[in-house]
Amino acid sequence: MASLLLPIAAAFLLLRVILSATVIDDLRNLRPPPDFNSTIARNCHHNPSLRYCGNSRPLDEIFKFTIVASHLCNESRNPNCVESFDKIDLRGRPKIAPLYLSFDFFWKFCPLTIRSIDFSNNSLRGEFPTSVLACAQAEAIDFSHNELSGDFPVERLASMVNLTVLNLSYNHFSECKLSESLVFRRFNSSNFVHSGLIPNKQSFAVKAVFLMIGLPVMVILTVGFIAMMCFRRRNLSLETPQLRHHFTTSMLKAATSGFSSENLEEKSDGVDIYRGILRDGTHVRIEIYWSNISTEGMRKFIEECEVLVQLRHKNLVRVFGWCDDQELRAIVTKWTDRESLEMWLIERAPPLKHRLKVLAGVMEGMCYLHKSWPQVGYDLGTSSIILSENLEPLISRFEFDGRNSSAKSKFVYKHKFGVLLLEMITDRGKMGDVEAGKAGFIEHIRTSFTANWQNLLDERIMIASTTMEQARQAIEIGLACIDHSANEQLNMDWIRHILLRIYRASCHVNGSPTHGRFDGDRDKRHKHGP
Ligand SMILES: *[C@@H]1O[C@H](CO)[C@@H](O)[C@H](O)[C@H]1NC(C)=O
Ligand SMILES: *[C@@H]1O[C@H](CO)[C@@H](O)[C@H](O)[C@H]1NC(C)=O
Ligand SMILES: *[C@@H]1O[C@H](CO)[C@@H](O)[C@H](O)[C@H]1NC(C)=O
Ligand SMILES: *[C@@H]1O[C@H](CO)[C@@H](O)[C@H](O)[C@H]1NC(C)=O
Ligand SMILES: *[C@@H]1O[C@H](CO)[C@@H](O)[C@H](O)[C@H]1NC(C)=O
Ligand SMILES: *[C@@H]1O[C@H](CO)[C@@H](O)[C@H](O)[C@H]1NC(C)=O
Repeated sequence: MASLLLPIAAAFLLLRVILSATVIDDLRNLRPPPDFNSTIARNCHHNPSLRYCGNSRPLDEIFKFTIVASHLCNESRNPNCVESFDKIDLRGRPKIAPLYLSFDFFWKFCPLTIRSIDFSNNSLRGEFPTSVLACAQAEAIDFSHNELSGDFPVERLASMVNLTVLNLSYNHFSECKLSESLVFRRFNSSNFVHSGLIPNKQSFAVKAVFLMIGLPVMVILTVGFIAMMCFRRRNLSLETPQLRHHFTTSMLKAATSGFSSENLEEKSDGVDIYRGILRDGTHVRIEIYWSNISTEGMRKFIEECEVLVQLRHKNLVRVFGWCDDQELRAIVTKWTDRESLEMWLIERAPPLKHRLKVLAGVMEGMCYLHKSWPQVGYDLGTSSIILSENLEPLISRFEFDGRNSSAKSKFVYKHKFGVLLLEMITDRGKMGDVEAGKAGFIEHIRTSFTANWQNLLDERIMIASTTMEQARQAIEIGLACIDHSANEQLNMDWIRHILLRIYRASCHVNGSPTHGRFDGDRDKRHKHGP
């Protein structure tokens, strides 16, 4: 810590005796002492990250910087300016605040020790003084109760990873288009009271409602199956091994206390979902379909169920059996206290490492299906993957169509996985336009990645941790999955392996060591390719 303070300490030791009452006088009258050059060189040797330690050191500017720093530190009532300068506090000082803001050379070299900057209640006018944002390490910036106007430079916030308070309340800024995603979600809304920026709460609400309606609709589309007649063959079904998975209407009735409304979990067009307990005590989820289907449709339904009950993997929902009675058609799966990925992302704002763990789990389930059950298709939408304990994702919607060519289907599913990954790591809300659809979303990520990938991230990830490098690597995998030619080179096992590796790196606090490793591995993937 001591070395961080060196520049300021040095300045004070130099100037302590000679400082006069006003910063203007000192800037006009004082000259660098003869050994100033070597003092600066020594400081930079100790701590090269000091902002004035560039290739060319403008001694004159650096000297002026130290004068302003000395005055500002004292004006900000820091207890001992020789040792600490951690806040700039010019609250309610309208006479001197604009003056200090005008010293560009000070902000350019902003001392690394500063944590908080408070210019509230100063009647400041005009645009937001962007030079202040050069203090990229700041944790709190307060410009509330001023008369600032124009656009606030939201894009500059991406690099200010430690900033948790940005108080712009009581100003006259122009309304900010990005407010919902960038500003509102990262900072507490009490930062923007009467600021003019006004976070667009409405669009957030619309989105949430949209997703909540989308969820039940997905449930309806489950296991696209068709109806027919049911047979009451309870005894037979219990005794014949092949029919072990066959449930009758009366068995389901018994499990749900006669389809009581207390057991009804969800009701939507054509599908009822009950929670039930089987005779052996197993808690199950019973999806009942009311639509009529043809005989042929029913034959297919049974055929598909016969496959589903054989799936065994920790990342696939467990299917216990089905009912194909005259009265009703149903699928019985294991009960999980389910939360869809979609809700998890919206409501919990999980950290990057948890997102990576979930993605690796999804890929593990996919590897299993493609190896052992290539005829089974599945849905990778965030609303149809559910989370069980220990962040194990469960693929829970299966379908049987369109899996004729294995190579082609692998491509399709890797592509879907890429979309899922990008949806989980980047911030779709930042596109501003929810209507743009999946294609628009992908195109947006693809085109913005090279120039500005940090801006794509879900802001809420960055606050939780400094795992930028892992996030970038994950996005790269997502992009490779959705890219037609790169996709072919990718082996599913490899994707899973790399995701686990990035996940592990993100569990260490400073994940920097993985940077080189990942790039190295990427070159190796061709060896593992299909
Ligand atoms: C300051 O010192 C460096 C070497 O430490 C030297 O290259 C540079 O010319 C000096 N500048 C001035 C203005 O004396
Ligand atoms: C530092 O601030 C105190 C008041 O907090 C003031 O009396 C003193 O003159 C200041 N010193 C300098 C060198 O500006
Ligand atoms: C703002 O500053 C003025 C002095 O300039 C002071 O009288 C007033 O109480 C301050 N208001 C707030 C809300 O801090
Ligand atoms: C954010 O804070 C951490 C921990 O205090 C520090 O290591 C990191 O350098 C800071 N980031 C920036 C951009 O200053
Ligand atoms: C903002 O944060 C404060 C404490 O930091 C809390 O009391 C307040 O409820 C929060 N407001 C909102 C809208 O989240
Ligand atoms: C921002 O400033 C306003 C007005 O001074 C205050 O009411 C609010 O609590 C502040 N918010 C935060 C997060 O500090």
